[in-house]
Amino acid sequence: MSNPPVIVVTGASSGIGRATALHAARDGAHLVLAARGRASLDEVAAECDRLGAASTVVQPTDVGDDDAVARLVARTLEQHRSIDAVVNAAGVVAYGRVEDVPVEVFDGVLRTNLLGSANVARHVVPVLRRQGEGHLVLVGSVIGHIGVPSMTPYAVSKWAVRALARHLDLENRDLPGVHVDYVAPGGVDTPIYTQAANYAGFVGRPPPPVASPERVAGQVLRRLRHPWLPPQLAVTNDVLRLGYTALPWVYVRLIGRAFPIGATDLDRPVEPGPGNVLESRQAGNALRGDPGGALAGIVRNVRRTLQGVTPE
Ligand SMILES: NC(=O)c1ccc[n+]([C@@H]2O[C@H](COP(=O)([O-])OP(=O)(O)OC[C@H]3O[C@@H](n4cnc5c(N)ncnc54)[C@H](OP(=O)(O)O)[C@@H]3O)[C@@H](O)[C@H]2O)c1
Repeated sequence: MSNPPVIVVTGASSGIGRATALHAARDGAHLVLAARGRASLDEVAAECDRLGAASTVVQPTDVGDDDAVARLVARTLEQHRSIDAVVNAAGVVAYGRVEDVPVEVFDGVLRTNLLGSANVARHVVPVLRRQGEGHLVLVGSVIGHIGVPSMTPYAVSKWAVRALARHLDLENRDLPGVHVDYVAPGGVDTPIYTQAANYAGFVGRPPPPVASPERVAGQVLRRLRHPWLPPQLAVTNDVLRLGYTALPWVYVRLIGRAFPIGATDLDRPVEPGPGNVLESRQAGNALRGDPGGALAGIVRNVRRTLQGVTPE
């Protein structure tokens, strides 16, 4: 790693990407911040400068647009000549049964989460290989390892991101300094749940135990120094993965009941709509979301379920 390192963060205007940018700024890194909307990136850039970043560049970029990703990488090289790490944290969610999610929204989730990751890899990996070193971090999810009701486009995208990361890792094993790191967070308190496209009737919420975006950012950046650390960022991910693979019949029976209680807010009905999947909704970008206490949420949801309220 150069000193200070050059770190590119996608999805830098909200949640995990924003926390990663702020953490790296505190460490004095050179930062290149990307997401679709400029205004919320500018806000983060100002905070990064205040926290001690060596430099901060804002480059509005839709990761689903391959040419835009090429421009992001080219501008970074123009400015800094090398790249130490790219953290691809851009991501979107859609809730709803497969037949209820409009085609453009289903495809939009895959475009950002999967094709965006592939676009980033396509332009970043050759740079890292030329340098003989560097990191590409792909942010997956525990939902890339298990199945959950009413999140099919997201789950499909994250299973595919995991496959992409595995294959990039295989293709780059010949250069020990080049690392493709895959990380899978569990529930994290970010705006992604309220920013999501929603055709399920109720707002989503992070399932407990809920990590802070700052904690996840620390875990992500630690992997730049220790790439051998495990990809799962929460112990409950391992419990869910074990249940899904070793006890599928128990898992399938339980998840249908547990998901509406642990991962939705049955007190917050929502009108169907595409959320931020098709375009940025910058007003909703922030470091954290606003899910309220997990335990209180579960108690409310149990009460609602007993009253017969369920997601569509
Ligand atoms: N929060 C969780 O519980 C959780 C759990 C597991 C995994 N994850 C993963 O962690 C990553 C970050 O999620 P988060 O919770 O931090 O979400 P978030 O708070 O909603 O932030 C998403 C970021 O991605 C940007 N973005 C969305 N679409 C984009 C596109 N096409 N091109 C470029 N930037 C785009 C958004 O800004 P613009 O809209 O302005 O572009 C925003 O900066 C995602 O990959 C998500 O799947 C989150």
